[in-house]
Amino acid sequence: MPERWSPDSWRSKPILQVPDYPEPKILAEVEGQLASFPPLVFAGEARALKRSLARVAKGEAFLLQGGDCAESFAEHSANNIRDFFRVFLQMAVVLTFAGALPVVKVGRIAGQFAKPRSAPTEKQDGIELPVYRGDIINDIAFTPEARKPDPRRMMEAYRQSAATLNLLRAFATGGYANVSNAHQWMLGFVKDSPQAARYEALASRITEALEFMRACGIDPESHPEMRTTDFYTSHEALLLGYEQAMTRVDSTSGDWYDTSGHLIWIGDRTRQPDHAHVEYCRGIRNPIGLKCGPSLKADGLMKLLDILDPEHEPGRITLICRFGAGKVAEHLPALIEAIRRSARPVVWTCDPMHGNTVTANGYKTRRFEQIMQEAKEFFDVHAAEGTHAGGIHLEMTGQAVTECTGGARAISETQLNDRYHTVCDPRLNADQAIEIAFLLADLVRKERALHVRPLSAAAGL
Ligand code: PEP
Ligand code: CO
Repeated sequence: MPERWSPDSWRSKPILQVPDYPEPKILAEVEGQLASFPPLVFAGEARALKRSLARVAKGEAFLLQGGDCAESFAEHSANNIRDFFRVFLQMAVVLTFAGALPVVKVGRIAGQFAKPRSAPTEKQDGIELPVYRGDIINDIAFTPEARKPDPRRMMEAYRQSAATLNLLRAFATGGYANVSNAHQWMLGFVKDSPQAARYEALASRITEALEFMRACGIDPESHPEMRTTDFYTSHEALLLGYEQAMTRVDSTSGDWYDTSGHLIWIGDRTRQPDHAHVEYCRGIRNPIGLKCGPSLKADGLMKLLDILDPEHEPGRITLICRFGAGKVAEHLPALIEAIRRSARPVVWTCDPMHGNTVTANGYKTRRFEQIMQEAKEFFDVHAAEGTHAGGIHLEMTGQAVTECTGGARAISETQLNDRYHTVCDPRLNADQAIEIAFLLADLVRKERALHVRPLSAAAGL
């Protein structure tokens, strides 16, 4: 029998990646206050996402998950949220068409504030200070005051998440997410891209499809579902005091939900089966993501899934694979085999960012070509195994930053200095993100060709 779970049972377990708060009394006060605040998301929404993810697990949908590595208080503005959402919708249009499958849209947004770090301190010019752990914990400025973990920052993270969600809900349901809008923006991107010729064919086919639908009387004016979209939020459940404060019982089911976001995930550094992060996540009913890095072996994965998903619930588990380009074929097949043997209905998705971080010109960066290479390897392995490459997980922004190199505009290492704004890992900029969607479209279409029997075969011809 598993031990009894409660929203605070994680507190008696070993834990990694926690800040050392110098003012525990204020921390307790803040957590108490947060626990009395309204939920940010609702249990029914988390269940709807789980149903959609169950479809991804069955090969009937594709998951698009993306956003900042770390949201920041300084970058919080309506324009940033709008620009991100606009890029995301363009990607979704391209992928929906390519796969002829619904795209489940999940942002790394409205709560993605806490970061695991490789060392607890950082040294600059002989001075050593606590490392920056994300805006919900401390400030990025390199001064002793700024780096002191401050519990009051959780209040600001809650406020920002609420404001972000409010705008996203308005965008998703208020007409902005109209499929014609997304299509027009996408055409604008193609026209301006140095690689226009490469993307034009697909873009024109989408135009034709929409024109055909319009001619049949299916347009956003007469079909409200073409004017709205489902958009969900996600973040890494790292700062467990905050997550616990946002944990509520759902009155309709009596189950516990983390109401800080629809999907939460466990990071690659905090997935020890007997530690606090796994303990917390096992008791909440949200869909759970699990980062799978090169150190996760099949038996370790099975152990984690026995704890996190004892009922083999469809849509509960999303495995976010992040091995690095050149390493997918070495690590992924054994995990797929173990999942196949246990007949677990999981979502397989590819995070081609975190295994491909390098340093160039003093900047942490990622090469566009490496990112695509890992995605390609992920699709190749799934094609060979006969399983569904269910999604993509990206660090991206709607802005024209210069943080990842390459892409159609061929950002060079010397250009990184121009607009390098991330507070943590390097993000794809708007153009690079849409380009990835176009390149993924080919992979998605190939998978579809493998799984969809040609009409002639279906008709027995
Ligand atoms: C992240 O997603 O920003 C992250 C830290 O990933 P990982 O846990 O896979 O390293
Ligand atoms: Co990151």
